[in-house]
Amino acid sequence: MPINFSHVFFTYNPKSPFQSNALKDINITLPEHRFVALVGRTGSGKSTFVQLINALLSPTDGYVKIGDYINHPEKAKKAPKDLSKEQKKAWKAEQKRIQQKHKSKDIKALRKHVGLVFQFPEYQLFEETVEKDVAFGPKNFGDSKEEALKKAHQALEEVGLDSSFFTRSPFDLSGGEKRKVAIAGILATSPEVLIVDEPTAGLDPAAAKDAMALFQKIEQAGTSVFLVTHDMDLVAQYADEVIVLENGQVVKQCPPSELFGQDLTQYSLQNPHVFDFALRLEKRGLKLNTASLRNVDDLANAIMEAKK
Ligand SMILES: Nc1ncnc2c1ncn2[C@@H]1O[C@H](COP(=O)(O)OP(=O)(O)OP(=O)(O)O)[C@@H](O)[C@H]1O
Ligand SMILES: [Mg+2]
Repeated sequence: MPINFSHVFFTYNPKSPFQSNALKDINITLPEHRFVALVGRTGSGKSTFVQLINALLSPTDGYVKIGDYINHPEKAKKAPKDLSKEQKKAWKAEQKRIQQKHKSKDIKALRKHVGLVFQFPEYQLFEETVEKDVAFGPKNFGDSKEEALKKAHQALEEVGLDSSFFTRSPFDLSGGEKRKVAIAGILATSPEVLIVDEPTAGLDPAAAKDAMALFQKIEQAGTSVFLVTHDMDLVAQYADEVIVLENGQVVKQCPPSELFGQDLTQYSLQNPHVFDFALRLEKRGLKLNTASLRNVDDLANAIMEAKK
């Protein structure tokens, strides 16, 4: 599904003392059927950016086109002063059409295609049992109760929650378990675009690795995956492309190997461990080929190659 940001601005609490210009004139076309990482320092706008893709937020200005859906500003824009009476009428009609589109079934269709797992999963859980929570999405999108439950159980098993969790309350779970339920809730709807906002935060290393392997499998089956993360090791290992946000703007879009292996202080980022290690070796005189460096195995191979 093509996703395109055009002159997108997003401001929290506009015209108040708490105004925060989270995104500023974003213009970007997102790649399809790829594993894309979104990185950038705390407060750079990543969560705001991804919430515009499934219309949880609407731009303050500009628009985001997601397939056929256009995410426009919610507030009707005032007509420019220099329009004629006729032009003003047409402007108002167009603004009305946009407002109505917002309230229509389109948003539901969009969210069927674009699944977002929040940065704080507890906001996403609301049913009295885990299985009901996960079944909510498929049921909401038209599945029978039985079919939805079947999908819920399958998704829960996929994220590593066995049947002993099915009838527990989602609110009585640990942070990591809640995150897994939230991920299952989105997977159960089989979205075309999967967005996960810091999905491994709060998971133990084994669970984090399992979650990443699952996203990779989903991506390889044809889904576009967008991963928001502060973990550059994950970016190096899994992403085909990386987008760097800085102060509400996109400052870089490239393959991870092009970004890493240089001084990243200008982006407030640190290199993944493997690139950091390669850089230190280089300073000591051993030049490695880092073009396809993703993990420790690749690093070991590159060292062996360089020593030959
Ligand atoms: N609900 C809100 N109300 C007001 N300002 C907000 C709100 N949410 C975010 N902001 C502000 O908008 C900017 C971007 O926030 P956002 O949450 O998108 O950043 P982020 O890159 O996801 O950060 P993090 O890495 O900490 O999750 C920040 O300056 C933040 O303070
Ligand atoms: Mg965030």
